[in-house]
Amino acid sequence: MENGPYIFCDILDFKGLQKIVVNHRVDWLIHFSALLSAIGEQNVPLAVRVNIEGVHNVIELAKQYNLRIFVPSTIGAFGPDSPRNPTPNITIQRPKTIYGVSKVHAELMGEYYHHKFGLDFRCLRFPGVISSDPPGGGTTDYAVAIFHDALRHGKYQCYLKPDTRLPMMYIEDCLRSLLEFMTAPKEKLKRRVYNVTAMSFTPEELVDKLSKYVPELRVTYYPDSRQEIADSWPQVFDDSEARADWNWKPKYDLDALVDFMVKDVQENYINGNGKKK
Ligand SMILES: NC(=O)c1ccc[n+]([C@@H]2O[C@H](COP(=O)([O-])OP(=O)(O)OC[C@H]3O[C@@H](n4cnc5c(N)ncnc54)[C@H](O)[C@@H]3O)[C@@H](O)[C@H]2O)c1
Repeated sequence: MENGPYIFCDILDFKGLQKIVVNHRVDWLIHFSALLSAIGEQNVPLAVRVNIEGVHNVIELAKQYNLRIFVPSTIGAFGPDSPRNPTPNITIQRPKTIYGVSKVHAELMGEYYHHKFGLDFRCLRFPGVISSDPPGGGTTDYAVAIFHDALRHGKYQCYLKPDTRLPMMYIEDCLRSLLEFMTAPKEKLKRRVYNVTAMSFTPEELVDKLSKYVPELRVTYYPDSRQEIADSWPQVFDDSEARADWNWKPKYDLDALVDFMVKDVQENYINGNGKKK
């Protein structure tokens, strides 16, 4: 936040984006704006605009100004017809959420612009990303929310069944994968879209680890509409192509993730030492 200008912009405002690129001589564009899976289902027209029109705007801008562009995709870009354990880099993609559909669209648009115009489009399919910041409305949010509720109240109501296995990654691995992928020489990339992951776990496996820090923790399970989404997503994500082509290797396993999350949520949110209360 301290290192550069912070400028408000609506991703649907092409001219506004164009002005920022020109005035600040932008050369790389990292496109994060999106409506996530659970939120997208609640407002499909807005998800179509932000996730699909938004991508059209940034891709076209990247082409016009010769920018290197990153767009994240997701495990949500797969669906019930995809192999779920493991899910390879190239396989059937028939997602059942507007979020997933918009991400498959982004992957294909980027690959097409690369093929047609030589655009340096790069895309990683992330699993559930876990950080201490409050989650944004996705299906893997439980794995963030549980830390806040467990450390504050000693209990958590989970919206997924205890044995729902999903791929996950700690935020530091996520950001490092992004940086390493963006700086990888073009010659190393055999693809424009790669799966990346670090681990896979279920709510009950996470609860088991977290109970070591919060022995009185009580978790109840009330599956809601997110269960159906989770049941159509990969359980174990195969990122062997990223490992082979540009040396991707995660640092955080489940033990390390829980350890860092407990410290981070405790220091920054509960004790209020940090900035993030
Ligand atoms: N969080 C995850 O587990 C995860 C996993 C895979 C991929 N991703 C991808 O990473 C990206 C960021 O996800 P996140 O978890 O930070 O989500 P988030 O909901 O926290 O952030 C999305 C951001 O998009 C912004 N936004 C919405 N509409 C906008 C508009 N019209 N103009 C400009 N900005 C707008 C929101 O203000 C918000 O800050 C998304 O593209 C998401 O698909 C996230």
